[in-house]
Amino acid sequence: MLILGIDTSCDDTSASVVEERKILSNIVSSQIKFHSKYGGIVPEIASRKHIEWIWDVTESALNEAKVGLKDIDLVAVCQGPGLIGSLLVGLCFTKALSFASKKPIIGVNHLEAHIQAVFLEEKSPDFPFLSLIVSGGHTSLYRVEDFGKYKEIGRTRDDAAGEAYDKIAKMLGLSYPGGPFIDALAKEGDPEKYKLPKPFLHGSFDFSFSGLKTAIKVLLKNLNIQEGNPPEDFRKDLSASFQSVMVEVLIEKIKLALNEQRLKRAVITGGVAANSELRKQAKNLEKEGFEVYLPSKALCTDNAAMIGIAGFHKFQRGERSDLFLNARAYLPL
Ligand code: KG4
Ligand code: ZN
Repeated sequence: MLILGIDTSCDDTSASVVEERKILSNIVSSQIKFHSKYGGIVPEIASRKHIEWIWDVTESALNEAKVGLKDIDLVAVCQGPGLIGSLLVGLCFTKALSFASKKPIIGVNHLEAHIQAVFLEEKSPDFPFLSLIVSGGHTSLYRVEDFGKYKEIGRTRDDAAGEAYDKIAKMLGLSYPGGPFIDALAKEGDPEKYKLPKPFLHGSFDFSFSGLKTAIKVLLKNLNIQEGNPPEDFRKDLSASFQSVMVEVLIEKIKLALNEQRLKRAVITGGVAANSELRKQAKNLEKEGFEVYLPSKALCTDNAAMIGIAGFHKFQRGERSDLFLNARAYLPL
C-alpha cells in the first residue's frame, strides 16, 4: 500500500511517499532563512511559503519515489496541533488532491506521527513503551499501549524543551532555531562553569523550563553581559551548563517514568531528540537494562514520512476521514 503524507504544521513544507513502513521519499523544504532574522517563526510568512511550495514539494516526493498520484492508495495529512494558517494550507491542498484523484484521505495528529517515526527505522520497539516527545512546541511523556493507544502521563507546564533552547539561544545572540547551535557550542564549553537551578517538579512527571530562562537572564544581568551579544567563551560555557541541566532532567524523568510505569522500553522523539548529548545519555540507559529507541535525526525533526506511517496505521485500524476534515491548532493525542 502506497501512502502520500503531507506535513505543513509549522515552518517546514514536507511531502513523502511511504510503502507502509518503508520510506520511498521524504522531502522537507525548510523555511528557516525567511524566519531566522525575526528570531522565531512568523506565522503569516509560514502560511504563504507553504502555499508557494506545497505543489513542488509534493511533485518532488512523487518523482523521487518514482510513482504518480494514480499509484497512491491513501493521502494522509497533518491535522494538528500546529500553526492554524500553516495547517490549513496542507489540509486544503490534500483535500483537493483527494477529491480530484478520488483517493481516500486521513487526518493525522502531529504528536502521534512523531511517536510513530520510530517504526520507519529498521529496529523498532514492541508494545508497550514509554515515549518522550521533545520538540519546539511539546515536551510530553506518554505510555503507549499500541498504535492509537496513548496515555499522557506528564507534560510541560510552561515552555517546551525546544522553546527553552531557542529562547536561550536568542539571549546568546544565536540564530533561530537555536537548539543545534547550543548543541555544537556545548561540546566546547564547561558544563560545571555556571550552576543553574535544576527544574525537577518532584512527585510529578510534568516539566517546567521557564525558570531556567529567567535564571540565565539574571546571570547575564549580574555578570554585566549584554543580552544577545555575549563573549564567545561565555556562550560555550553557558551552552554546556544549560544543556547539562536540561538533559539531566529529561533523562531522570524518563527513568522515573519507566520504573513507575513498569516499562522497559523508551522512545525519544521530536526535534530536541536530535540533540547529541541527549542521544548519548539516553543510550547509556541501556546499561541499566532498558531498551532505548531514537529515530534518526532526520526523522526526529518535522517530516512527512511520519505522517504517512501514522496515516497507514490509522487506515489499518479502520479509521477514515472525509472532506469535512478540519485543522486544529490544539489537538490532544
Ligand atoms: O519537532 P520539531 O522539528 O518541530 C516541532 O514540532 O516543534 O522541533 C524543533 C525544535 C526546535 O526548538 C529546535 O531548536 C530543536 O527542535 N532542535 C534541537 C536540536 N535540533 C533541533 N534542540 C537541541 N539540540 C538539537 N541538536
Ligand atoms: Zn514536530
